[in-house]
Amino acid sequence: MKFFVDSADVAAIAELNDLGMVDGVTTNPSIILKSGRDITEVTREICALVSGPVSAEVVATQADAMIAEGRKLAEIAENITIKLPLTWDGLKACKTLTDEGRMVNVTLCFSANQALLAAKAGATFISPFIGRLDDINLDGMELIEDIRTIYDNYGFETQILAASIRSANHMKEAALIGADVATAPPNVIKAMANHVLTDKGLAAFLSDWEKTGQTIL
Ligand code: G3P
Repeated sequence: MKFFVDSADVAAIAELNDLGMVDGVTTNPSIILKSGRDITEVTREICALVSGPVSAEVVATQADAMIAEGRKLAEIAENITIKLPLTWDGLKACKTLTDEGRMVNVTLCFSANQALLAAKAGATFISPFIGRLDDINLDGMELIEDIRTIYDNYGFETQILAASIRSANHMKEAALIGADVATAPPNVIKAMANHVLTDKGLAAFLSDWEKTGQTIL
């Protein structure tokens, strides 16, 4: 499973990138707001750092304007993926932009039917939002499972990009189902390394080592 970082925090992305943990980056208007940076500047910096796809989201709601914004965002760097919302206009823009050979990430997907339409429109990535479905007592992972089945049934090449990931457990479940990509904030990716028994075991090893009176270096 590929790891995308769901953030515009350049330092946090760089730290994970240095460890080989970053296959791409996703942003959205809320993430840009949180960064406090100019969208073009921060996206350009991220694209220079990360060689994989970097999603930058349009904010227009009509297809023609979405297409214009998408083309403009794509000028930032070669690895820009244009992010479009899963609306009828978004699907129209997806078809036009993918026909031009551009990468498109269709976002705000909350149903298998929406994902099916995105694949028909040629989306490179579909972003089902797990956490936001869980928030309203629906099963976000069930959606990932349904999309996996549908895409595999027909050989759609659109990649399932599990999004709105809130926990390390979400990462594991997305990987078990076979999501192609998971995008998560840096703290969630780092939390995957944590285990209480690792901490406990290390404390015991260090305590015993101290008793030996030895040093390695
Ligand atoms: O990848 C989509 C993500 O940015 C949304 O996450 O936690 O705001 O639902 P969240």
